[in-house]
Amino acid sequence: MSTQPPGLETVVQTLPDAGVGGPDTALIARLAAELWHEISPPLSDRSSSAPPAAAPVSTGLAGAYPALTPDYAPPVHPATQNARGPDTTGTPSGASGAGDAHPFGEPRCTHFGRTSAPSSPALPLHVPAADVETLAAPAYYFIGESAAESSGRPGSVRTDRLPGFDVHAIRRDFPSLHQNINGHPLIWLDNAATTQKPQVVIDTLSNYYSRDNSNIHRGAHALAARATDAYEGGREKIRAFLGAASAREIVLARGTTELINLVAQTYGKKFIGAGDEILLTTLEHHANIVPWQLLAEQVGAVIRVAPINDRGELLLDQLAGLITSRTRIVGVAHVSNALGTVNPVEAIIPLAHAHGVPVLVDAAQSTPHLPIDVRALDVDFLVFSGHKVFGPTGVGALYAKASWLEQLPPWQGGGNMIADVTFAKTRYQDFPQRFEAGTQSIADVIGLGAALDYLGAVGLPAIAAYEHELLEHATRALESIPGLRLIGTAAHKASVLSFTLSGHTSEEIGRHLDRHGIAVRASHHCAQPSLRRFGLESTVRPSLAFYNTHAEVDTLAEVIRRLPPRK
Ligand SMILES: Cc1ncc(COP(=O)(O)O)c(C=O)c1O
Repeated sequence: MSTQPPGLETVVQTLPDAGVGGPDTALIARLAAELWHEISPPLSDRSSSAPPAAAPVSTGLAGAYPALTPDYAPPVHPATQNARGPDTTGTPSGASGAGDAHPFGEPRCTHFGRTSAPSSPALPLHVPAADVETLAAPAYYFIGESAAESSGRPGSVRTDRLPGFDVHAIRRDFPSLHQNINGHPLIWLDNAATTQKPQVVIDTLSNYYSRDNSNIHRGAHALAARATDAYEGGREKIRAFLGAASAREIVLARGTTELINLVAQTYGKKFIGAGDEILLTTLEHHANIVPWQLLAEQVGAVIRVAPINDRGELLLDQLAGLITSRTRIVGVAHVSNALGTVNPVEAIIPLAHAHGVPVLVDAAQSTPHLPIDVRALDVDFLVFSGHKVFGPTGVGALYAKASWLEQLPPWQGGGNMIADVTFAKTRYQDFPQRFEAGTQSIADVIGLGAALDYLGAVGLPAIAAYEHELLEHATRALESIPGLRLIGTAAHKASVLSFTLSGHTSEEIGRHLDRHGIAVRASHHCAQPSLRRFGLESTVRPSLAFYNTHAEVDTLAEVIRRLPPRK
């Protein structure tokens, strides 16, 4: 048996359609890797026969996966690699030079890898002229008509490039995407659980701890001033990201879960009493159910639930009918993490406001995919998590209208949130500090700011357009698999493809995909009521981000097809 991978020329010749913008290099590299895997022994047996790890990179497939690399080698930070200190100049992390490659051989991207100030949204991207000519005006999944339809292109046309958007350039900014898992290039499709981080976020965290580390707000020294500026700078970036009027309306904590608990225990304790109603939807994540249940038990309130139809769409008229004179808050996910449904929050908010009821939007799953404007929405409370928007774990933000924050009592007590303390009485800080007791996750707030700069530079409208087409492509690919049932087929969806496959448990499918380097979630996704609405306890849930490619989706479908039948 040959121990060499098939020639890439052979693979290219057998490809039916290289797609818009020339050959799909990621697909070619992936096919080569797949073929190699089929004809070769497992990685552990390859010691004598495998080609050197760097060999595929020499094919010149810029932007493609290095097809055969060691299973995992932690990325080496350029500062360590070059035995020099951290970059204090704000030079892009991928600045040109010999050390300008990922540990696995891909060149670093220089577009967004800045370690300093906000990048301009108008940063030029590598978009070959030929691609621009063949591309359509963007369409978004929150505006019915698909990108393919609106462009007049057949639905099967695939492209990893849209004007101003080059997925292969973007992928080079994410070091963790460039590794092998179980002998296969990693395909990260667990984005609804958490997202991978661009180099600029990693560098920002590293630089902060290397140079600026200090506690904030109280220190009378240079590092305290630097750290405080950077931390408050992070808050300001979150304000801009959400379109809030003032940075004082941004409260920082560990993430969506903690912040919903904060709203329940402050707004809820003050404004919700015995017999009052809290209106949620079937589509909520447990993070937007359990805090309200805890509150309801404490104050004697009642939870009402707006239902969904068989496609996983919220029944708006029924939700409207559930708003009564006892309703004290409506809590709704912007995007369902289990089904991908995009809820019409722009319609729900005025409905609730017509009854004088405030609305909390859980934007944990929408912020990575859709532009948000809290003032245009007129939303009262909106929460999201940093780690879902390509930022660090341990940080998230609550937007709340100042008119609410000024009425709310503190949540947790301690340092930072006080103005004056005696044993007789404590006076509190004004908001937002009143809600930020103790030492915050300072570096993570700054890292989140870097992630939002990055997202802003790529552009959420471009991301939405690209992901819309990718989601349609993935939906077609999965639907064509015999026995596969998509759970959640709403007209307006984002990112998520939940499914079951007859004859197989979700856990089996998850393990099979992992053996092929494909990371998905196979569980109840912390949204048991959503799945039980369909008579299910679990599904398999691939979820997309803007660094995923059409080739990855094709591989996902192909690997599912190859699932061995149960004995
Ligand atoms: C819709 C939704 N809400 C809330 C959460 C909780 O987010 P976190 O775990 O970051 O607090 C998640 C996480 O998956 C989610 O998808």
